[in-house]
Amino acid sequence: MRMRNKYRKPTTLRCNAGSRCSFSVVVWSLVGCLLLLHLSSNFNHKDGGGRGVQLRITHHPQFRELQEVEEENIQIPPPRGKRSPRAAKRRPKRTTTLIDEFLDENSQLRHIFFPGRKRAIDPLKNAGNDSYYYYPGRIWLDTDGNPIQAHGGGILYEKYSKTYYWYGEYKDGPTYHAHKKGPARVDIIGVGCYSSKDLWTWKNEGIVLAAKETNETHDLHKSNVLERPKVVYNDKTGKYVMWMHIDDANYTKAAVGVAVSDTPDGPFDYLGSQRPHGYESRDMTIFKDDDGLAYIVYSSEDNSELHIGPLTEDYLNVTSVMRRVLVGQHREAPALFKHQGTYYMITSGCTGWAPNEALVHAAESILGPWETMGNPCMGGNKMFRLTTFFSQSTFVLPLPGFPGSFIFIADRWNPADLRDSRYVWLPLIVAGPADQPLEYTFEFPLWSRVSIYWHRKWRLPQGWAGFK
Ligand SMILES: *[C@@H]1O[C@H](CO)[C@@H](O)[C@H](O)[C@H]1NC(C)=O
Ligand SMILES: *[C@@H]1O[C@H](CO)[C@@H](O)[C@H](O)[C@H]1NC(C)=O
Ligand SMILES: *[C@@H]1O[C@H](CO)[C@@H](O)[C@H](O)[C@H]1NC(C)=O
Ligand SMILES: *[C@@H]1O[C@H](CO)[C@@H](O)[C@H](O)[C@H]1NC(C)=O
Repeated sequence: MRMRNKYRKPTTLRCNAGSRCSFSVVVWSLVGCLLLLHLSSNFNHKDGGGRGVQLRITHHPQFRELQEVEEENIQIPPPRGKRSPRAAKRRPKRTTTLIDEFLDENSQLRHIFFPGRKRAIDPLKNAGNDSYYYYPGRIWLDTDGNPIQAHGGGILYEKYSKTYYWYGEYKDGPTYHAHKKGPARVDIIGVGCYSSKDLWTWKNEGIVLAAKETNETHDLHKSNVLERPKVVYNDKTGKYVMWMHIDDANYTKAAVGVAVSDTPDGPFDYLGSQRPHGYESRDMTIFKDDDGLAYIVYSSEDNSELHIGPLTEDYLNVTSVMRRVLVGQHREAPALFKHQGTYYMITSGCTGWAPNEALVHAAESILGPWETMGNPCMGGNKMFRLTTFFSQSTFVLPLPGFPGSFIFIADRWNPADLRDSRYVWLPLIVAGPADQPLEYTFEFPLWSRVSIYWHRKWRLPQGWAGFK
């Protein structure tokens, strides 16, 4: 696990600005900022899980609820004689930690991380008091009453029909190991798609890109790997374009695949795969910018760095432009978003299916340089924050109408039974001064802080348009 605060500098500029100022105006800005901070009545001193000062979003009173720092106090049970061989092998000497308990299929705390079916969120039966509440980690049912299968996914907003489409790995098959040293896997079934108007009630639209059962040479043969599908709409061609990580069972192919459809609910036609820019590509995402350009971001060089490059105008291929970013930092599971002209990215470390610490990075240009800002997780407890609330980033969804407010979407993988992996949705707020100074010589970026707030239960603000 990586250490934070690698680039800590002795001084911090505490100033809430989404923009940047050049070094020459830093002094004047500093004076201005300090004055503003003095005058601001919204300035709150708050202990955010060991963090410093926070400036809250004030545009909607209900956002304060989302920014409450909720603590968790979970007692680790005393070690028992019998532990699963898997967990015992992994950590033979150390005393039990919450991560051990998480990875132990027989842990007494299993229900905390993977609550049973009884308490599933059933959008029909639970309508009433419980409606619209997100319970990170609970089984989440679609409108047919089946657990949603959209792992490692992403969400597309179709603005004409005001409908959200959630795409992800459909993993409703048995988990097994292809060989002794192979990672836990589920055969490719396809990309699942769900639609929703309110981001809470999801209708199963079926498998929009299906595995090939019999063609062993095809990328989508069930024995291969299809991960992290993301869909973007191309305004020029009117097509929905899906990009995904394509691999063999041993993760040696390290490629990206592309598929295309005329409608958001598919079916998508698979066009083929490639190693983008000639490089290995594993965890990946696609980001569509305000100007209509789309970018691919992928882990490369044995996951030691990320590569970012623009797609062609039709989004069906990469161009020759590519930048290496976060070189040597070993990050994966990238999720990009933009706020007030600054690009932000959440990433995870590389520890297989086990959870690890998320980091947030920021950049003025999407092609970099990217600066690492630290761990965005707030609340829970220390172990929750060091494990991204026992989950891994996959997507960040802007909430239309509430600038600075996003939903952080992550997967709580269950390597013992991958189909039972859960979703962790939490409010992500960009506001307040960054609590970690950045490494710049001639520019002093004044990024806002990115915070992901732990909640056992939360809902979107009442005024949110999806609730009509
Ligand atoms: C649940 O809803 C019912 C009526 O719909 C109400 O009487 C009750 O107080 C609610 N309970 C809670 C805990 O909000
Ligand atoms: C199997 O897949 C390969 C690669 O996509 C393709 O070239 C071939 O035509 C397919 N074979 C059949 C029988 O569909
Ligand atoms: C994966 O690796 C194992 C062990 O090295 C090997 O037996 C198997 O053939 C490989 N499978 C593929 C699809 O490359
Ligand atoms: C994608 O672009 C590369 C060059 O950047 C080109 O060699 C390749 O043929 C293109 N692939 C497709 C499917 O157009």
